[in-house]
Formats: sequence, C-alpha cells, structure tokens
Amino acid sequence: MTQYQIGVVVGSLRRESFNRKLANGVIRLGPPEFAFRELEIGDQPLYNQDTDRDQPEAVKRLKSEIRECQGILFVTPEYNRSMPGVLKNALDNASRPYGDSAWAGKPCGIMGVSSGQIGTACAQQHLRDSLAYLDMPVLGQPEVYITFSDELINADGSIGAGSRDFLKGWMDRFAAWVKLHAT
Ligand code: FNR
Repeated sequence: MTQYQIGVVVGSLRRESFNRKLANGVIRLGPPEFAFRELEIGDQPLYNQDTDRDQPEAVKRLKSEIRECQGILFVTPEYNRSMPGVLKNALDNASRPYGDSAWAGKPCGIMGVSSGQIGTACAQQHLRDSLAYLDMPVLGQPEVYITFSDELINADGSIGAGSRDFLKGWMDRFAAWVKLHAT
C-alpha cells in the first residue's frame, strides 16, 4: 500500500493551543496509509531576503521536511482577522529563493478553531490567497470554521461526538484530494 507523509503546520506556538489539539484529534481520523507529523515552525528566523543565497539551517530543515511530504495540513488560529505572523513567516521562508519553493505543488487542506464566532474564516481566506500564489492545490470544500467549546475535544484527545462525523467526512475528502494531486 502506498504510504503518504502529511506535514501538519500549526499556526500557534501556544503550549495549550486549541489548534494543536484539533490537529492531533483530526489526524486520528486519517486513513491507515497516511502518516502525519507536525512540521516545527517556531524556530524559523524572521524572513530576510539577504539570506536567500545561504539560508539558515532551520529554514533548510523545514524545506527538506516539506519536500518529504505528499500533502500538507494547515491548522491555524486567527490573529487580528488574519493568519498569525509565525505561519506567514514559515510560508515565506520555505518559499524562497525564487524558483526553489518547497511548497509548490503540494496538495493541502486548511482548518482552524478560534474563540471568536467566525471560527478563523478571515485567517483562512488570507491563507488561501497565499497558498494559491504558492501553487498549492487547496481543498475547497467542506470548509472547517470552528468556534472552540469544551465539547470539541475529549479528555483522551479524540474529537468530540458533536464534530466527529463532520471532521471524519472532511478527512475523507482531504485524503482523496491528496491522492489525486500527490506527485
Ligand atoms: C486572537 N484571537 C482572535 N480570535 C478570532 O476569532 N479572531 C481574531 O481576529 C483574533 N485575534 C487574536 C489576536 C491575537 C494576537 C490573539 C493572541 C488572539 C483569539 C484566538 O482565537 C484565541 O486566542 C485562540 O485560542 C488562539 O488559538 P490557539 O493558540 O488556542 O491555537
């Protein structure tokens, strides 16, 4: 059976991040041929075009990890009606130098949870804009905008009963999307 490596990029560095909990719950719903691993982005230097010719080790590491993946799952909070800077910085770092982007062509899916009512919709829309430019096929539907509640994640880290079927359906679509576009 073909194995698919999926990189998980969480847009929060917070220790108790709801988004990391969501990511860890959702990946349990993935098919057996999918192996998920979180790609660390908290160690990325602030992007500086001066370093394009000799990129910092952390950037080289992130790019190499992305290249090992057949798909990417972004799970992000919304900061001030956009994606967090740490996520945008990771997109920028691994996209350069021009012509050597690690993201290009990687199929991806996005989701997010926030404390606000719109459940990261603005952050995801901005993220979609960047991913389109990065030439990443993004799963369009279903969209996953979640407002955090205590019922979202069970004590054992699994997805709560109220969201499980919806997120399992999303994961099935994501898995098919990755298989369709993976190279
Ligand atoms: C937020 N939060 C937030 N929520 C939202 O729905 N829309 C927003 O624009 C913002 N803006 C925002 C800015 C900053 C700087 C912070 C720290 C927070 C609240 C956010 O949804 C909440 O802190 C989540 O818990 C963040 O996700 P993690 O860290 O739990 O994954």
